[in-house]
Formats: sequence, structure tokens, C-alpha cells
Amino acid sequence: MTEYQTVTGTETVIRDGTIKLHGPEGFEGMRKAGRLAAEILDALADIVQPGVTTGALDDVVRQMTLDGGAVPATLGYRGYTHSCCISVNHVVCHGIPGDKALKDGDIVNIDVTPLLDGWHGDTSRMYLVGDVPLKARRLVDVTHECLMIGIEKAQPGARLGDIGAAIQAHAEKHRYGVVREFCGHGLGRLFHDAPEVVHAAKAGTGPELRPGMFMTIEPMINLGRPWVKLLSDGWTAVTRDKSLSAQFEHSIGITEDGNEIFTQSPAGRDKPPYA
Ligand code: MF3
Ligand code: CO
Ligand code: CO
Repeated sequence: MTEYQTVTGTETVIRDGTIKLHGPEGFEGMRKAGRLAAEILDALADIVQPGVTTGALDDVVRQMTLDGGAVPATLGYRGYTHSCCISVNHVVCHGIPGDKALKDGDIVNIDVTPLLDGWHGDTSRMYLVGDVPLKARRLVDVTHECLMIGIEKAQPGARLGDIGAAIQAHAEKHRYGVVREFCGHGLGRLFHDAPEVVHAAKAGTGPELRPGMFMTIEPMINLGRPWVKLLSDGWTAVTRDKSLSAQFEHSIGITEDGNEIFTQSPAGRDKPPYA
């Protein structure tokens, strides 16, 4: 049985397995955090190019987050020491920024989470470095479609499994693999909270979606098989078959009549090309 808990935004919230239901204060907080997150990703579109290191991009994310009055939620999170995750080519997620330079043809995910006034804005986009082969660009396009198809299913009265079912059907129609080991999540005052939003599921299963629920949807889609492995750094997840992987993420809230995307790009830069 699923338990829900009403949250106004001022009380202490813990990870107790309940699904939090937020009011207007929560929506206002998430709108601000989400907008800052989207603006950071907007700015990165002008900087991601051959030769730039992922560490330099991390510096930009940290500075923009602090300038926006927020702190990067990943900094110090479970021992992680960077301001974002940068996942290149066959890295599925949680790539650690460093001195590696991007090169022509790379596809790159950058995932940011400013924590602003106690609310988490969690979002990621793909970036194309220079000339990217058609096969990789198609993977990126379809992965964005998967995200938006999942968001369309996030309606009050629907079931959580409806989201993953729609994403899985779309990805598999293109013969892509849907990553199972990582999923979307509830968020708000907490970075990662119940429920787990899986991206491969059966329609009609799982808890009912109710107004006031906040969650991320963040499908990771592989050009090859779905299977991933973790590198010895304890963070970096890569495809087992070395195939390319893509991901997009939005933070959303369920409303009375649909949903609100907190992390939509104010510049219309939700997916490449960003020119
Ligand atoms: N932003 C990631 C997510 O979408 C989580 C990153 S946690 C980190 O949930 F520690 F790896 F940064
Ligand atoms: Co997330
Ligand atoms: Co994220």
C-alpha cells in the first residue's frame, strides 16, 4: 500500500518511503530551482565544444549555481566531490568531471541539480560536440522523445508504471535498450525520495499519481543492449557492450489537470541543435 504525506515546505522532511504531496509553496520553490537549473544548461550549450575539458564545464556549473544563490546538491553528496555529472559517449550516467577534453563527434550528457532555498532542480540534457554521426544524433533525438512521452503520461489518476511503459515501448520500437539500474525519483526538499520512477514498466501498475507529487523522469537509452557496469571509481556507469548511451531529465510536478515541467529551458534549448 502506498502512503502519501502532505508537505507545506517548512517542516522537516525525511526519506521514510512516503510519497510527498506538495502545495503552492513547493511549486513556487521548484519553479525557481528548476529555472536556475535550466538556465545553467542553456549557458553550457555555448561552451560545449571540441577541446573543452569536462572539469572546466564543472567549474562553470559550480560558479553559475553559486551566482544564482544556490549550491550544487551533488557537492558532498555520498562522497561525490563535483558540481555536476558529465557522461560522454558510452558513459550512461554519473560521469565524473576531470581533465579529459571533449572531441569532435562526442555526445555528452550534463546533469545539474542546484539546491535553491531548500528545493532541488534536477535536470540533464545531451550536447553534440562538433560533427556527430547520424546514428548518434538519432539516439539523442529518440531519447528526448522518450522523456517527453513519459511526461505526457504523468497525469493525476494515472499509475506510475504508465510512464515507464510508454518510454520502454518507444525506445524498443527503435531497437534501443532501456537502462534498468538507474531510475527517476521523487524530489523536492530531498534530492532523492520515493517513489522510484523506473523507465521500463507495465502500464496500470504502481502507485497512483496525485496532484502535488514531484518527480524526475530521466530515461537512459542505449544504442545497444540495456546492460551497464560500474567502473572502479564507484560512480561511472558505462554500457557493458560499449554502445553509446543518451539521457535527458526533467523535474516535474503533478497538477490538478496534468503536470508542470519545472526545468523547461526558458531559451527554447531543451534539446540539440542549440545554435
Ligand atoms: N543528478 C543525478 C540524478 O539525476 C544524481 C547525481 S548524484 C551524484 O539523480 F552524486 F552522482 F552526483
Ligand atoms: Co535525477
Ligand atoms: Co539529475
